[in-house]
Amino acid sequence: MNCSIKHSSPSISSSNSIPQKGSSQISFKIQYLQPTPFNFNIKPSSITFKKPLYISHIQDFGGSIRKINHGAVCNAYEADHSQPLEIKMDEMAQSEAGQKMKIGLYFATWWSLNVVFNIYNKKVLNAFPFPWLTSTLSLAAGSLIMLVSWATKMVEAPKTDVEFWKTLFPVALAHTIGHVAATISMSKVAVSFTHIIKSSEPAFSVLVSRFFLGEAFPMGVYLSLLPIIGGCALSALTELNFNMIGFMGAMISNLAFVFRNIFSKKGMKGKSVSGMNYYACLSILSLLILTPFTIAMEGPQMWEVGWQTALTQIGPNFIWWVVAQSVFYHLYNQVSYMSLDQISPLTFSIGNTMKRISVIVSSIIIFHTPVQPVNALGAAIAILGTFIYSQAKP
Ligand code: 3PG
Repeated sequence: MNCSIKHSSPSISSSNSIPQKGSSQISFKIQYLQPTPFNFNIKPSSITFKKPLYISHIQDFGGSIRKINHGAVCNAYEADHSQPLEIKMDEMAQSEAGQKMKIGLYFATWWSLNVVFNIYNKKVLNAFPFPWLTSTLSLAAGSLIMLVSWATKMVEAPKTDVEFWKTLFPVALAHTIGHVAATISMSKVAVSFTHIIKSSEPAFSVLVSRFFLGEAFPMGVYLSLLPIIGGCALSALTELNFNMIGFMGAMISNLAFVFRNIFSKKGMKGKSVSGMNYYACLSILSLLILTPFTIAMEGPQMWEVGWQTALTQIGPNFIWWVVAQSVFYHLYNQVSYMSLDQISPLTFSIGNTMKRISVIVSSIIIFHTPVQPVNALGAAIAILGTFIYSQAKP
């Protein structure tokens, strides 16, 4: 990326100067009328110049870093003398603070919605152990919400073509497998256990990237896999209600979601569908893929008996639980895709790990899940490993 800021004299150009997330520093390359440019770092809060300099225009500064990283153009114009640099810098700092607040809000919403989903999902699965149907209902609720939003113009419908849906297909297939597998896992074991195993997703990501895509990583990344794998193994070995289907479901979900992320990264490059609409299309396609399998695996006869039993045991509230798990599934995913629009994949993966901690802790409290100290230690080691991983990853 190349930004230039012109002043009558001297002229300044910034190269690779957009600060990374969390950094308040801006690096400018200043070219006086000397042959060799030199670099220095400026802190927006502390910058002072004897003579005011002027920035003409920086597109979307403090807005979406992702946009900037991918070729946003910072045009060079004649100096706009309307605002001195210090005022502009203040504005940038403010918009950076605003952006941080916005991301904080996204994260808080994402985690809360996810906790609520996990609680209702488990309540439903305890009373009505049909994970294929509940997975399908979650996708159906999301598809319905979005189709209504598009029809009523509450949300602008995306402009898609056949190529878009073709590219989306492998993503949707992986999303479907990962979703059903996680739900099957949660129908067999404690929510906390599923999420402890799911916290090892980075390990799957590294192994798939290494062995399938031939990507190499710094040593720190490989080392971070030791606590992730070791912590998960310790937790699994000491889990009081261990179940092989539950364990394998979470593992398959990890693998499927890694492929989902790889396919969506490859397929969506350069496409202009917003995070919200992208997730909506993903839900619709996943629903179409999943429905025939759901009918084949479970089927209306089993559902009818199960539904009556659940209604007798729980009462009419059971219907609200099903609605809550379906709607909250869509909402948390939608918010997570919307936040992915705003943040780097790294920040996203840290946010995802924090999300798992909130789910693990809240589900242990709500469902009174028995936890042995060594089991908790395993979970803590695994989660610490995912933090180390996110720091070590380039
Ligand atoms: C699902 O049902 O898809 C899983 O609960 C997803 O889990 P995750 O979004 O926390 O990875």
